[in-house]
Amino acid sequence: MEIISPSILSADFTRLGEQIAECESAGADWIHVDVMDGAFVPNITMGPFIVEACRRATGLPLDVHLMIEHPEKYLEAFAKAGASILTVHVETCPEITATLKEIQALGCKAGVTLNPETPAEALEPAIPAADLVLVMTVHPGYSGQSFIREQLPKVAQVRRLLDQAGNPAWLEVDGGISTGTIDQCRKAGATAFVAAKAIFNHSEGIAAGIRALRNALC
Ligand code: DX5
Ligand code: ZN
Repeated sequence: MEIISPSILSADFTRLGEQIAECESAGADWIHVDVMDGAFVPNITMGPFIVEACRRATGLPLDVHLMIEHPEKYLEAFAKAGASILTVHVETCPEITATLKEIQALGCKAGVTLNPETPAEALEPAIPAADLVLVMTVHPGYSGQSFIREQLPKVAQVRRLLDQAGNPAWLEVDGGISTGTIDQCRKAGATAFVAAKAIFNHSEGIAAGIRALRNALC
């Protein structure tokens, strides 16, 4: 079944534990945590301290997206804080295979992602070792941005790269995922879907947001 990974970037941080529990009881599969350093991306968000708080709030896997320079310096801290999946940007990792293996040696699943302007070919060296490949469907930095439709062929291209390699890794999409865009991503080959606004800002609440996304996967 498809993975729904609510991104807490749009959560109410005064009630983070409750909101994560609401995601869990509504059938979310993972919790997505967006780590931003104000250097690789313009925004600054959260670090291992919040991951550790999320770890205490839920038994769901924590899907941690590292939008930071020199991610290798912080892998151990995020693993110790309770991350389940650590996803790094290929733009920040000159030795991507070594970084993915280091993540796995820390006991986490290893993900690799790329910005919208980075071609799928940049992922090729990472494909054999990756447990997850994330295709960004917005420019990373903020929730609530519009889906970049031009990324759909890249999702299909990554699907082919994974299939050719015989790698059953998750193919995740992140950014602008809504009831209007989720099924196009699934059709292009995605199996895991991150959403912030469509879940946390849904007019009828978190559970309704998750339900609507599932229903849109036809
Ligand atoms: C963007 C983050 C996303 C973001 C998605 O830089 O990586 O995870 O929270 O937000 P929505 O679903 O609102 O586009
Ligand atoms: Zn993200």
